[in-house]
Amino acid sequence: MAERVIPLVDLRSPVLAAPRPLEAIPPSGQLLDGLGRPLRDLRISVTDRCNFRCNYCMPKEIFDRNHHYLPHGALLSFEEITRLARIFVAHGVRKIRLTGGEPLLRKGLEHLVEQLAALRTPDGQPLDLTLTTNGSLLARKARALKDAGLQRVTVSLDALDDAIFRRMNDVDFPVRDVLAGLEAAQAVGLGPIKVNMVVKRDTNDQEILPMARHFRGSGVTLRFIEYMDVGATNGWRMDEVLPSAQVVERIQQELPLVQLSPNAIGETAERWGHAGADGQHDPSLGEIGVISSVTQAFCGDCNRARLSMEGRLYLCLFAGQGYDLRALLRGDMDHGMGRASDAEIASALAAIWQGRTDRYSELRAALPAAAGAAGRRIEMSYIGG
Ligand code: GTP
Ligand code: 5AD
Ligand code: SF4
Ligand code: SF4
Repeated sequence: MAERVIPLVDLRSPVLAAPRPLEAIPPSGQLLDGLGRPLRDLRISVTDRCNFRCNYCMPKEIFDRNHHYLPHGALLSFEEITRLARIFVAHGVRKIRLTGGEPLLRKGLEHLVEQLAALRTPDGQPLDLTLTTNGSLLARKARALKDAGLQRVTVSLDALDDAIFRRMNDVDFPVRDVLAGLEAAQAVGLGPIKVNMVVKRDTNDQEILPMARHFRGSGVTLRFIEYMDVGATNGWRMDEVLPSAQVVERIQQELPLVQLSPNAIGETAERWGHAGADGQHDPSLGEIGVISSVTQAFCGDCNRARLSMEGRLYLCLFAGQGYDLRALLRGDMDHGMGRASDAEIASALAAIWQGRTDRYSELRAALPAAAGAAGRRIEMSYIGG
C-alpha cells in the first residue's frame, strides 16, 4: 500500500487583488463566465473553526493546538457579508449557502440569516437560503435559525454506527446528538433536509446500507459524496474513493432504486428514487443522491462562487488563489485605494466572473498524479463544501 504523505503547507493561499475595471459593468442579473456558465449559487464561509476533526477535512495532526485561526477582526462582519451578498444577488445569485468550518460556531449567526433572508432577487423572489452543518449544535439552534428566515439545512453524517462515527469526527462526538439535531430541524420545518455522507472505502463504506435503510421514508434525502482531493492536508488517495456507481449498485441489491431527472441545471447530485412494489418511484419512500465529483465531474454547468470568511472570492473548490474583496470593502491604504462603492464592487465581481474558466474536476484526470498545485490549494475547512 502506498505510504500516506501529508505535506506541511501554509494553509492560507496567496491572495489576488480584485480588479477595478475602468468601465462600469452594472448588474444585469445574467452574468456568464468564460465558459458561458451563469452565476447562481454563492457559498459563504463564516468561520474557519470547527469542533470536529474529520480526518478527510481537518486532520488532527495539522489542525492542532498550534494551528492559527483567523482573528475576529479579519473576518467579514455580517453587514459586510450582506452588502456583498446583495450585489451578488443583483448579478443573478439565487441560492446562498452558509458554510464553515462549522457555521454554527459563528456567534449570533441567526442575525446574519435575518439580513440575508430579507434580500430579494431582481424579480422580487426570496433566495434559497440554506446552511451546511455538522449538526452538533443544531438541536440548540434550529428554532432561532428558522425564526430568522433560514429555509433548510444540510447535515453531514458519515455513519450511524457510533464507534465509526466517533472515530471519523475524531473528537468522540456521538451519533445520538447529531440525530437529535436532525430531529429538531425537522420539527421546526427546516426542510427539505439533506444528509451528506462522505464515503471512504474501508472506513465507512459498510455504513452505506444502514444509512440508506435509516433515511428511507424519513423525509430526509441522503446523499453519498465521493471522497475528494480537496486541500492538501488529508493525504487523499484514489484507492479510498468508492465510485458512486458502486454505491448505487450496493443499495440496489437490497432497496430498489430508479433514476430521477435533475431538479435544476448545475445540480451536484444525481438523484435516485426509492421504488415501491410496482417498480416505480414511490415519493413517500423518498430519494437518495450521489455526488460524483471524482468519477463523473460536473464542472460543465458549475454555477458556484465561494466567499471565504475573510472576504476572498474563490471560483472553484480547488482554486489556489482567491480575490480580495475585503480590500474593496475596507479600502487598501497600502496601495492608495479607498473604499469601493457598490457600483465598483459590482463591476469587480462581473470582471472576475467573466474571466472564470475553472473546471478542476474535469481536468483532474489529465493532471499528473501528484499535481504540483496541491500544496497551494485551499482547504475544505476554509471554504466549506
Ligand atoms: P443543494 O441545493 O442542497 O442540493 O446543495 P448542493 O447540491 O450544492 O450540495 P451541498 O452544498 O450539500 O454540497 C454537497 C457536497 O458536494 C459538498 O460537500 C462537496 O463535497 C460537493 N460539492 C459541492 N459543490 C461542489 C463543486 O462545485 N465542486 C465539487 N467538485 N464538489 C462540490
Ligand atoms: N471530500 C468530499 N467531501 C468533503 N467534505 C469535506 N471534506 C471533503 C472531502 N475531502 C464535505 C463534508 C461536508 C461538507 C462541508 O463537505 O462532509 O458535508
Ligand atoms: Fe468535519 Fe465539516 Fe468540520 Fe470539516 S468542517 S472537520 S467536514 S465537520
Ligand atoms: Fe465547479 Fe470547480 Fe467543482 Fe468543477 S471542480 S464543479 S469548476 S467548483
